[in-house]
This record gives sequence, C-alpha cells and structure tokens, in this order.
Amino acid sequence: MILVLNGPNLGRLGTREPAVYGSTTHADLVELCEKTGRDLGVEVEVRQTDHEGEMVGWLHEAADRALPVVLNAGAWTHYSIAVRDAAAQLSAPLVEVHISNVHKREEFRRHSVLSDIAAGVILGLGVDGYALALRWLAGAARG
Ligand code: DQA
Repeated sequence: MILVLNGPNLGRLGTREPAVYGSTTHADLVELCEKTGRDLGVEVEVRQTDHEGEMVGWLHEAADRALPVVLNAGAWTHYSIAVRDAAAQLSAPLVEVHISNVHKREEFRRHSVLSDIAAGVILGLGVDGYALALRWLAGAARG
C-alpha cells in the first residue's frame, strides 16, 4: 500500500487560488490517485489534514508499517521540523510533491525542510505529479 498524505489547505483544491493550483478538487485528486493505483495494481490511500499532529501521527503509522509515502506537506514543507522528524523515520521511500512550481513563487517557498530526506521531489506539474510519484514508488517497491 502507498499512502498519499496532503497537508493544510489542500482540501480546498479547486476553489483555492485556482490560478496557482488549478481547478481540480481534492475529491478529483483522490480519484486520480486511486485510479493510478488500480492501473498499477497497488492499493493507494489518500488522506488530507489541516492539523500538524494528525500528519505526524500518519507518518508514524507509515514508519511502523514500512509504507511508501507521497507527501505534499503544503506550507509545513517550508518550516515544520516536526513533520520532517516524523518523515525521517520512514524506512520506505518518500516522494515530496508540490502542485505548483515553488521556485517561481515567493522566496519563502524555495526552501523545503523535507527535500533532503525525500527520495525525490516533483513540483510544478499540477496534480499529475501525484500520478508520477505513485508510478515511481510502485516501481521502487517491485525493485
Ligand atoms: C504547495 C506549495 C506550498 O508552498 C503551499 O504552501 C501549499 C501547496 C503545492 O502543492 O504547490 O500549500 O505544497
């Protein structure tokens, strides 16, 4: 199983700053990830939270179950050492995803506290980045 974990404000995809994040809703994103999982023959579970402690708990669960993770930590990406410390406990690969190209945006979005512990980072490709991450993780799991 692959866990897709989305952080704060990502539940508002579709209505949130559509010029930056597009018109795809979080429900559409869940469908895209589940369909990608079906195509790949891997179970995919998508979760979203606006609460940092809940995200930390999900990362602990992924660490305990040795699950690969696709993580869009939203704004936490840029400053949450708690999320980083939880993600650092994972034994299976982590792929960091951002819908927008954070390097084209404000300076404070350029730094990620997660990138150096991620297997890879996909950004700026919209929600397609999730499908690409799942594809790569499914291959990584097969070895
Ligand atoms: C984001 C980029 C972050 O800077 C921002 O805080 C988000 C979404 C993205 O997917 O592009 O919430 O992670």
